[in-house]
Amino acid sequence: MNINELKAEVAKINWWHTIDLGQGIVTPGKGDSAMWLKRLAFPSDLSGKTFLDIGAWDGYFSFAAEQRGARRVLALDSFVWQGNGGGSKAGFELARRALNSKVEDIELEVLEISPDRIGTFDVVLFSGVLYHMRHPLLALEKVCSVTSDMLILETHVDLMSAKWPAMRFYPAGELAGDGSNWWGPNPIAVEKMLEVVGFRTIKTIGLYPMDNEQGRLVMHAWR
Ligand SMILES: C[S@@+](CC[C@H](N)C(=O)[O-])C[C@H]1O[C@@H](n2cnc3c(N)ncnc32)[C@H](O)[C@@H]1O
Repeated sequence: MNINELKAEVAKINWWHTIDLGQGIVTPGKGDSAMWLKRLAFPSDLSGKTFLDIGAWDGYFSFAAEQRGARRVLALDSFVWQGNGGGSKAGFELARRALNSKVEDIELEVLEISPDRIGTFDVVLFSGVLYHMRHPLLALEKVCSVTSDMLILETHVDLMSAKWPAMRFYPAGELAGDGSNWWGPNPIAVEKMLEVVGFRTIKTIGLYPMDNEQGRLVMHAWR
């Protein structure tokens, strides 16, 4: 594909991630994916590791893992890749081609994840997905079942002033008018859920408040 063909293909897609495809072309996503990479404290060296990106969308973090030396990267998604939420799989597929990437992909629901279906991974990324889960504790059980070492988790949080583990329920799109947002756990609830599903060591990496109650949280957890 020459540069003009690539530009034309990029322009057809509603991007989530800002991916540098080379030749001066950066996909026009929402926000700044490189900034999120820093917030996640994304490992700078993944040499020889296996990496699973749950809710990969355009695959920015999958490609970043590959570029940092991961020997196997699996990008997993369902909702957006099936054409929901204003997105599609086209961005992932175009970026993979443009980057000459070997990232694998699988269309799977979080609740369908199991070691039998996809194997286990040294590092698992679960970014921006927890609050989309109708059954967050069950989802985290599935995530834990395929994590052999480390989880990187990023999520929306709510009820931050509560001193006990709590989750706010959004039954009718109360969060950002988006009916696919179900729950806003507070940071203590996220930590306790990670413990309950089987993670032993849990570390808060960053908390980014938007107001007194809501914000974004990054945690790392190990089996
Ligand atoms: C807010 S986006 C986050 C994208 C990316 N992980 C990031 O952090 O930039 C949420 C992603 O989770 C995916 N997702 C939502 N529900 C899912 C489910 N039940 N199974 C698999 N993926 C899901 C969506 O398709 C979407 O790609």
